[in-house]
Amino acid sequence: MVDLQNLSYALVQVVHNFGAAAVVGGAALMLLVTPPVRSLQNKIAWIVGGGWLAQILSGIGFAVVSYTGYGTLPDIHGIAVAALYIKILCASGGVILSFMLLRHAGGWSDKRCRSAWQMLLALGVVALTSAAFLRWFS
Ligand code: HEM
Repeated sequence: MVDLQNLSYALVQVVHNFGAAAVVGGAALMLLVTPPVRSLQNKIAWIVGGGWLAQILSGIGFAVVSYTGYGTLPDIHGIAVAALYIKILCASGGVILSFMLLRHAGGWSDKRCRSAWQMLLALGVVALTSAAFLRWFS
């Protein structure tokens, strides 16, 4: 018999893993494409923005599965809490920056767009690094 809680964790983790791949892979792809292609930028900004949003929702999903299963949230301290805060900050920044790219990049120079993608990649790298600390200091 499949354990429902484990199944829920696994499904949330699937979303979380693909979200992580989207935010890092999408930003890296945009930095590799030279000269920049504006039509591609819009599509990738949707994928990356969706990825950041998926990270927030699936991150909340972990908490919901834990709360419904154990009646409490995971008991984390110190480095793990700091890593979680950093991930939340990165995800919030990622959503805002992706939204700004979608909404305003039409009037931005190529240099400014590139800076935005560099910033998005940096946020993804920091969040992924924090994920390792959250995992092993929990
Ligand atoms: C609101 C933002 C986020 C929250 C609340 C959140 C929460 C969590 C939680 C609770 C776990 C499970 C930790 C464990 O197994 O002990 C996790 C795992 C993970 N998160 Fe996040 N996360 C967020 C954002 C991100 C972002 C932005 C990324 C990457 C870009 C990311 C990448 C990962 C990865 C790769 C794992 C699996 C780590 C492992 O098991 O080795 N998370 N996250």
